Amino acid sequence: MRILFLAAEAAPFAKVGGLGDVVGSLPWALSRRNPHDDVRLVLPLHPTVDAQRWGLYPLTAFTVAHRNGPITAEIYATEHRGLPVYFITGVPVLAVPGVYSPDPHADAVKYAFFSLAALALARYLDWPPDIIHAHDWHTALAVHALAQRRDHDAFFAHTRTVLTVHNLPYMGAPAPLLLEAFGLPPAPPESGLPEWARTTPLPMGLAAADAITTVSPTYAREILTPEFGHGLEGFLRTRRDHLFGILNGLDTDLWNPATDPSLDVRYTPTTLGLRERNAAALRDEVGLPQPEGRVPLIGLVSRLTSQKGVDVIADALRLLPEQRWQAVLLGTGEPHLEDALRRLEADFPNRVRAVLRYDDGLARRIYAGVDMLMMPSRYEPCGVAQMIAMRYGAVPVATETGGLADTVRDVDLSRRSTGFLLPEATPKALAFALRRAFAVFADRRRWQALQRRGMAEDFSWDKPAQAYARLYANLLTPAPNP
Ligand code: GLC
Repeated sequence: MRILFLAAEAAPFAKVGGLGDVVGSLPWALSRRNPHDDVRLVLPLHPTVDAQRWGLYPLTAFTVAHRNGPITAEIYATEHRGLPVYFITGVPVLAVPGVYSPDPHADAVKYAFFSLAALALARYLDWPPDIIHAHDWHTALAVHALAQRRDHDAFFAHTRTVLTVHNLPYMGAPAPLLLEAFGLPPAPPESGLPEWARTTPLPMGLAAADAITTVSPTYAREILTPEFGHGLEGFLRTRRDHLFGILNGLDTDLWNPATDPSLDVRYTPTTLGLRERNAAALRDEVGLPQPEGRVPLIGLVSRLTSQKGVDVIADALRLLPEQRWQAVLLGTGEPHLEDALRRLEADFPNRVRAVLRYDDGLARRIYAGVDMLMMPSRYEPCGVAQMIAMRYGAVPVATETGGLADTVRDVDLSRRSTGFLLPEATPKALAFALRRAFAVFADRRRWQALQRRGMAEDFSWDKPAQAYARLYANLLTPAPNP
């Protein structure tokens, strides 16, 4: 099977969020499962990609048609852990300094160009994919363009498409003029899309894809409702037979407390007691006083966006003045949320440290040192931090939504519990869940049992890779003749 992945991010080349983790893992997990499959990945050559470090070499150049004249696409390639990875650059890619632009128009042009150039690349390689697996709005137009061509273009006649939604609200800007300039028609009226969505990249791809996936089963159901569907719930319900929720995995080699070189002390489920030394080192590192007795240390590792409920955290911790706790909060993002965390630290100087930067090493030491990790997300397609937390023996305190509901089992429900769930992302609900967590924490035996159950969960990519492989195979099996 020839499988072509198209995405904006993939670790280790370029990573902004969870999308980068997924696309940096899934292609390799698929190829490990079935070494005969030919899995390849195409990424934009963001100016931030270190071409030298990854051994990129120039492969070819061709043009992408545009009303104002053809745009040159230059292709670079490398091999990474056994798989070919291609990088596309050109004027629209160079116009954006990072992975994404704050200017929606620049982003729209960059990713329309990238999507079309990626299809042209398959043709240049004379490598007709069986499956094109695109991710998020950035590459949705490739799915749309392919559906437009498939009927009269023998090269792509047998290619089937999968579009994975990692975050539905990010749809790309409606851009009728831009699409026209690239020769792309709107999604057809019979697609069932609302009018605005017919010229919006993500919905255009959703209407054209042979299969739609989201990154957890619960999120796949949630997006069929007005609360989570962002105006597409009606349309998505018409496609529900083609919509699947496949829970993300975690790269269990990259995230392993027994081998993680960033930690002060490495540990396993049987040497869990060693985590206390990591907690003490973490307090020193961020400048929190060492408390007397056993005081719960709470963590946050997150992009600071409203999706993640960062404001909820700031308000919830203020509701717990009578309890003993300390918190280490790490992330960057929306300025008003950074301010909220700064104010929290100023108001609780002996309890709170807000570290407002991107710091992978510190993130790992937080997972390895804190007792609880907060994720009061307003919605969460899958979420990675709760899986890392459990693997590192930090107990998640998370909203019962999307992938969080699918990966964390609440303490109230069973002896199989792995964390604390809150029914909604409000300060009151989070404060209540933290109080419950503090109560269990006070019982060291019970707490360690909870930690060990989390550490024993299997979040590896094997299961998801198998689910995707099965989905691809189903798409390629011709429907039985009536
Ligand atoms: C997005 C979602 C997150 C998910 C990630 C990877 O970042 O917000 O929930 O885990 O994509 O699929």
